[in-house]
Amino acid sequence: MQAEHEGGNHMADPYPKYARLRERGAVHRVRTPFGGDAYLITRYAEARAALNDPRLSKHPKNAPAFLREAGLVTGDAGPLGVNMLSCDPPDHTRLRRVIGKAFTARRVLALRPRIQEITDDLLAALPAGEEVDLIEGFAFPLPITVISEMLGVPVSDRDRFRTWSRDLISTASAPEVRQRREAAATALTGYLSGLVAERRERMDRELASEAQPDLISALIVAADRHGELDETELLGELMLLLVAGHETTVNLIGNGTLALLRAPDVLGALVADPGLVPAAVEELLRYDGPVERATLRTAVEDVDVDGVTVPSGSLVVVALNCADRDPARFDRPDELDLARPDNQHLAFGHGPHFCLGAPLARLEGTIAFTSLLGRFPGIRLACPPERLQWRSQSAMMILRGLETLPVILGTVN
Ligand code: HEM
Repeated sequence: MQAEHEGGNHMADPYPKYARLRERGAVHRVRTPFGGDAYLITRYAEARAALNDPRLSKHPKNAPAFLREAGLVTGDAGPLGVNMLSCDPPDHTRLRRVIGKAFTARRVLALRPRIQEITDDLLAALPAGEEVDLIEGFAFPLPITVISEMLGVPVSDRDRFRTWSRDLISTASAPEVRQRREAAATALTGYLSGLVAERRERMDRELASEAQPDLISALIVAADRHGELDETELLGELMLLLVAGHETTVNLIGNGTLALLRAPDVLGALVADPGLVPAAVEELLRYDGPVERATLRTAVEDVDVDGVTVPSGSLVVVALNCADRDPARFDRPDELDLARPDNQHLAFGHGPHFCLGAPLARLEGTIAFTSLLGRFPGIRLACPPERLQWRSQSAMMILRGLETLPVILGTVN
């Protein structure tokens, strides 16, 4: 096993390099941008096992010192504060339960008419036959509007969240990036505290708290009436939901549309039969998922991965997109196949931290692709694929997505 350095054109096409790594072994010691090494897990079976392994902790207190020195972890808080994604059971179980009720398949299905309405409004505002940036015009505003409404934060502030969110998830260690990350954490926490205080006041006045359907109110009730979480956790949960609720789905729509534009047969099949869209969403998640690598874990004991000892204290990174192209699990993994059987991809993770928002993301993806292709069946790329801009790797250890996606919105197939 040797140290691996990333570079070259990794963001444009990470898959050839991932294939080479996966062939060489299930786990590799790699250099991270934060000044220390990590163990990168590349094969499906080992990735799935790692995501469900209690010896790999999510708690910042166990993180290696170099992450602390890089400012990515402080005390009990990860980059998005104290929340369910940055802790282990029993705190994880408690914090997930508080929010879990809002994300059941049934609750999410009830959002369908509103998500459809937001989608239709966004698409109606796009000029048919002309060039647009699909990220700016559609892929970003759809999920941020949905999650803002669910939480009960003003949608008019969405450009501010976008900037804060981008700064917060940047993992580069350059001093100016670190400063921006810290400033964004302070600004977003201050903003959310203000909203919580306002909502508390309103709830006291109206005494109608339980009737408020938004998640901020639900969290306040859980904290103030049932003592299920403290104030730091309340803000951390909100921050996580706001960021996780849009930074990922934007990439499902962006990466997914690009994959379809590069596979005209598949695109044609979907235009002809929109009933295939839910299967397409799963296949697009597997083929070029929004979360390239799972969030960071730390081994709290020596862990054997396919004969390699990952020593206690090591940082472990599970390469979800690499595992989802493992030929030992998926036949012809580099092909987009709408009829792929048993498509148990890892795009939403696995185990206790399996994506809480998966039913919402699936619904948003299904509505987005059905409506986009229904209205603009002749959609095509407005630039050669090699000129597309991906969000910079130094800022994106975890997510994979396009900065812009220029398309021409043809209405005729
Ligand atoms: C966790 C992917 C959309 C909320 C995760 C994880 C992945 C993931 C891979 C696990 C990370 C890990 O184990 O390190 C995705 C993808 C999405 C998406 C691919 C879109 C296509 C959403 C949405 C929400 C959301 C819309 C809604 C608010 C969460 C939360 C967690 C999570 C709260 C933490 C769960 C826990 O720690 O128990 N997501 N996500 N996600 N996701 Fe998503």
